[in-house]
Amino acid sequence: MVSVITPLQALPVDQLRQRTSTKWRTYPDDVLPLFVAETDFLPAPAITAALARAVELGDTGYTPPDPGVRAGYAAFAQRRFGWTVDPARIRTTCDVMMGVVEILRAVTEPGDRVIVTPPVSPPFYDCIPEAGAVVERVPLVDTGQGWHLDLEGIEAAFAGGARAILLCNPHNPTGTVHSRQTLAALADLAARFGAVVVSDEIHAPLTGRGATFTPFLDASPVAARVGYAVASASKAFNLAGLKCALMITADDATTQVVRSLPAEVEWRTGLFGALAAVAAFAPESDEWLDAQLAALDANRVLLAELLAEHVPAARYRIPDAGFLAWIDLSALGWGDNPAAKILREAKVALHFGPHFGEEGNGHVRLNFGCSPDVLREAVARVGALARS
Ligand SMILES: Cc1ncc(COP(=O)(O)O)c(C=O)c1O
Repeated sequence: MVSVITPLQALPVDQLRQRTSTKWRTYPDDVLPLFVAETDFLPAPAITAALARAVELGDTGYTPPDPGVRAGYAAFAQRRFGWTVDPARIRTTCDVMMGVVEILRAVTEPGDRVIVTPPVSPPFYDCIPEAGAVVERVPLVDTGQGWHLDLEGIEAAFAGGARAILLCNPHNPTGTVHSRQTLAALADLAARFGAVVVSDEIHAPLTGRGATFTPFLDASPVAARVGYAVASASKAFNLAGLKCALMITADDATTQVVRSLPAEVEWRTGLFGALAAVAAFAPESDEWLDAQLAALDANRVLLAELLAEHVPAARYRIPDAGFLAWIDLSALGWGDNPAAKILREAKVALHFGPHFGEEGNGHVRLNFGCSPDVLREAVARVGALARS
């Protein structure tokens, strides 16, 4: 029997405006915010219960070394991705970008080059210098139908001395889910040049119907050797403010690198983040996650229909994962940063395309982790501006 999943309902805007997070406090009330990667749903009930209990108890102290999140994530990875993770090879830290910084700091020397694959998540450009390394850009290949890693370009960068690649798997902002074959080929290249792959897998639980997420460390035995993964419940369960991420390895040498990081790296894990992550990764939250995936699936298709109706000059490809849409508005002639004009004149806040690298000129990133009504209103406002 095919089970029918009821999509999750997002909160109405009047309630969302009572939130105090970045999404709701950056712009005045006449602006519809669809920029930063926060979602508009209520938390999974198990998370609400875990946090309410912690508040009730005054359970607001330091996070213990293993608050249960290691085994919780390993069980989640097995259920959702068919990936066997050894909980003993997981350490926590406060967020994904900090995990990335600390791993890069450990595996590179100051001034080493680290590859990014633009257009890519803006913090990637900051976290590499924070680790003392230098960004080397090898843009994704845009086939016109989708995007993929430029393996030849990456090979040339490794051959030229790049020591590591910061992979976005699945990719933000294009929503690309890299194939097992591509990831295994990337691992072979890294191994050939003695380089390291750090795989940011924060969007993995949000891989949509029709796509299969391959954890980098599971792509091949070589990938298990050359890779580090950094994961979190924070995007799929909207927990970014609570601060808990996982650094995962699959090989003795890489595990030793993560174990050798300063103890402070783990002490920075937020207790509420860890408690919420344990609840998020528990089997009882699977139904909520599936309901959210159904809502996002409906929205990513609705967005295509709305753009065709209101902004036919927009180019948008339905993403395979996540709640972020990468939209090419260059045909509108609104310059390199169309989101600036849209914010000013249509009162819709989208993420600025150029912040993702020069490949983002003429583009915007739109967050569709909202209600269909908000999506309709936002695209209608942009459409009215385009017609004006
Ligand atoms: C690919 C990617 N990595 C990392 C982050 C930030 O994660 P964190 O807040 O855990 O550092 C984001 C936020 O949207 C993201 O899209």
